Formats: sequence, structure tokens, C-alpha cells
Amino acid sequence: MRDYLDLLKTANQEAIRARRAETAALLAQPKKGFLRFREPYESLRHLHARVTDYSTEAVTIGLAEELGEADLGLVHEAMQSFMPWRKGPFKVFGVDIDAEWQSWRKWNRLLPALPDLAGKVVADIGCNNGYYMFRMLPHKPRCVVGLEPFLQHYYCFKTLRRLAKADELFIELMGVEDVPLFSSCFDVVFLMGIIYHRISPVEMLREIRAAMRPGGVLIIESQAIPGEAPVALFPEERYAKVPGTYFVPTANCLRNWLLRTGFTEVEIFCCHPMSSEEQRKTAWMTFESYEDFLDPHNPALTVEGYPAPLRVFLRAVNP
Ligand SMILES: C[S@@+](CC[C@H](N)C(=O)[O-])C[C@H]1O[C@@H](n2cnc3c(N)ncnc32)[C@H](O)[C@@H]1O
Repeated sequence: MRDYLDLLKTANQEAIRARRAETAALLAQPKKGFLRFREPYESLRHLHARVTDYSTEAVTIGLAEELGEADLGLVHEAMQSFMPWRKGPFKVFGVDIDAEWQSWRKWNRLLPALPDLAGKVVADIGCNNGYYMFRMLPHKPRCVVGLEPFLQHYYCFKTLRRLAKADELFIELMGVEDVPLFSSCFDVVFLMGIIYHRISPVEMLREIRAAMRPGGVLIIESQAIPGEAPVALFPEERYAKVPGTYFVPTANCLRNWLLRTGFTEVEIFCCHPMSSEEQRKTAWMTFESYEDFLDPHNPALTVEGYPAPLRVFLRAVNP
């Protein structure tokens, strides 16, 4: 498929195409901040993988034996330019990229609630480097559209997509605030690791529902605080050292937000504590990670003294 937009008759095509043109003009400028990701993307333009496998923990794109030494060097260098790798693992022409997150764990947790993706138009909002989009491919979606506003992840995904020739996957350099451009477009929406970063989570859910087709399914995953009461924590400044964290709900609070924005069949299907096995410093992400975010004397608390995060998963339907 050349352009997924041809499928989305109800999208604001004019505005989306105008945004793309603006983005392309912006990124064509020879600015250092753009070139540091654009150059590695361009350096691998001539490479395409013969073998891919998206069915195991590490998304595999190409085997080492497909390339000569010079090209293997280029791949290694390009992959290093996309550090820090947050989501993964990936194995790219034999280069093992052990990302901060063991993202396959999240994928395995949502599998029991995964709607049938076959032939569906899917959105992954805040898709990062596209780890989950690749994992969706064995389920045969018609297309998956990732929205991701950060240049590092955008170019990283574009590089992986081109190496993999994954023609069903697309990305826009956009954020969840651009969702109103996609009125009644998506059969399935993934919103994972986003909602606690939004200053108006309920308004966002309303906009996301409007971007879904009737009968569409939302899979939402979030940080959460423990407890049964339908309340949210609102940190004074940071939560687990992360700035830009607003409402951290309990699972029941998130359930109520979904119900109050008109979703039905809302189901909490998984809830688990975070762990430093799942999110940790690696050779490909050398900054602080989960264990640095907790009170060293009491792992039930964050360094700020708030309850340490759980992760919750909900499934909801746009009636
Ligand atoms: C915590 S990560 C979650 C990544 C992935 N969805 C997951 O669950 O593993 C948040 C992602 O959202 C992206 N992001 C930041 N601002 C955003 C926005 N306004 N709209 C959509 N995504 C955003 C970040 O760049 C990052 O890739």
C-alpha cells in the first residue's frame, strides 16, 4: 500500500497532507538536530532484509549473513545513533539491541484481550520506535498508523520499516493532540504509556473515541496507583522522577474515565506491579531507569514518596 490515507475516507485528508508537507520541508533543513537522525536513516537506504520474524520476543529484521562487513558496520553505527533505545528488543542483521524495556512482556499481557486485527485499520498512539506495530503484523492488519511526535523515534521507526519492507506500517510525526484529524477512522486503537502525560486525560479520551469507527476497540495501558477507590494522584512536580506526569489513576478511576467518555464493555484485564527486570539500564540505554526512580529504602514508594506505580490494562468499545 502506498498511502494508508487512501483508505481513510473520513480523515481530514487535506489537513494531514498539508502537515506532511510542512514536516518534510522542516526536516529537509540541514540542522544538526535533524541530521543526527536523518543521516543514519539515509545511510541504510540501500539495505533490505530477506528474513524477518515478528513472532518472537526480539523483533528480527535481517540476518547477519545477509550482509558484508562494511554494511554490517553501517547498520551497527546507525542503530547506535538511535540510542537511547527505550522499547525492544530488536535484532537487526544480527545486531542485538537490548532496549530499556522488555516490551514483549507488555505485548504478551495484552494478547489475551487483543481484538481480531485481520483486515483492520489500527492506530498506535505514541508508538515510539514501532516495536508493537511490528508485533501486530503476524495478526494481518490492513494497516497500522503510528503517531509519534519525537524525531529520534520517528526516524528510528522509518529506518526499521524500510529495512523490513513493512509496507502495512506507517508513521506520522504527530501527537495525540492531532487525533481530531482522523474522525471515525480506526477499528482498533492502542494507547499505551500516554494517558498520565496528558493534562486533560478525559478530553483526550473523548477525542480518541471520535477517531474510532463504531464497534472499534481501544486497548489502553497506563501507570496506575494501587487502591480500589476511583481516584487519581496528581504529583506536585514529578512522579518517579518523570516530569510532565499529571493524573496517575487507579484502575477503577481509569475505568470511570472511559465510561464517562462514552465507551462501553470496559474491562480491566490486567494489573501488575512494575519491576526493574522489565525496565532497566542496558548497553543501549545508559541513563537512569526504574530502580533509580524508587525510594532506595522502600521500593513501595517512588523517590518523591508517592506509591510506586502499577501498570493496568483496559479494553473498551466505541459503541
Ligand atoms: C512511555 S512511552 C510509551 C511508548 C509505547 N506506547 C509503549 O507503551 O511502550 C510514551 C511515548 O509517547 C510519545 N509521546 C510524547 N508526547 C506525545 C504526544 N503528545 N502524543 C503522542 N505520543 C507522545 C513519546 O515520544 C514516547 O514514544
